[in-house]
Amino acid sequence: MMYRFLVLNGPNLGALGIRQPEIYGPQGMDAVPEIVLDLLGPRSTQVYLDFFQSNHEGVLLDKLEQAHHEKQDGIVFNAGAYTHTSLALADCLAWIQVPCVEVHISNVFSRESLRQQSMLARHTVGVISGFGMLGYALAVQALVHHCDKIR
Ligand code: DQA
Repeated sequence: MMYRFLVLNGPNLGALGIRQPEIYGPQGMDAVPEIVLDLLGPRSTQVYLDFFQSNHEGVLLDKLEQAHHEKQDGIVFNAGAYTHTSLALADCLAWIQVPCVEVHISNVFSRESLRQQSMLARHTVGVISGFGMLGYALAVQALVHHCDKIR
C-alpha cells in the first residue's frame, strides 16, 4: 500500500532553524525525511511526502482543498499561530475528506494560555505536540496506522 501525505506548514515555519532555536530547535524541514526513514524503517518507502509552507491563511486553505480534490491520503498540519485563531482553517478541516494530524514542534500546553487552545484539533485524528521535528515523523507514522485501519 502506497500513501501520499501533504506535510503543510503555516506562518513563520519557513524560518525553522533560524527562528528561536531555543524553542523550535536548530533543524529545518529538510531534516524531516531522514527522521521519517529512521522511525518507519522499510515502510518509509511506501510513503510519499509533499512538503508545502505558506505564511498566508488563504493559500493554506487552497492547499487543504487541493489535498481533498486530489484525494491525498492524509495531511500532517502545523498551522503555526493560525492553530489558535483560524475559524476558516477549522471550517475547511471540518469538510475535507482527508484525515489530518495536527503537529506542534513545541509543547503548546506548557506555553502561554492562548497557545493551549486549538481551533483545529477537534477536526483532526489527533495532535502531537512537544517532540520537536520528530513530531512530523510521529504524525506520518500515526497517519499510516490510521490509513491501514480505514482501508
Ligand atoms: C507552533 C506553536 C504555535 O503556537 C506557534 O504560533 C508556532 C509554532 C509549534 O510548532 O510549536 O508558530 O505551531
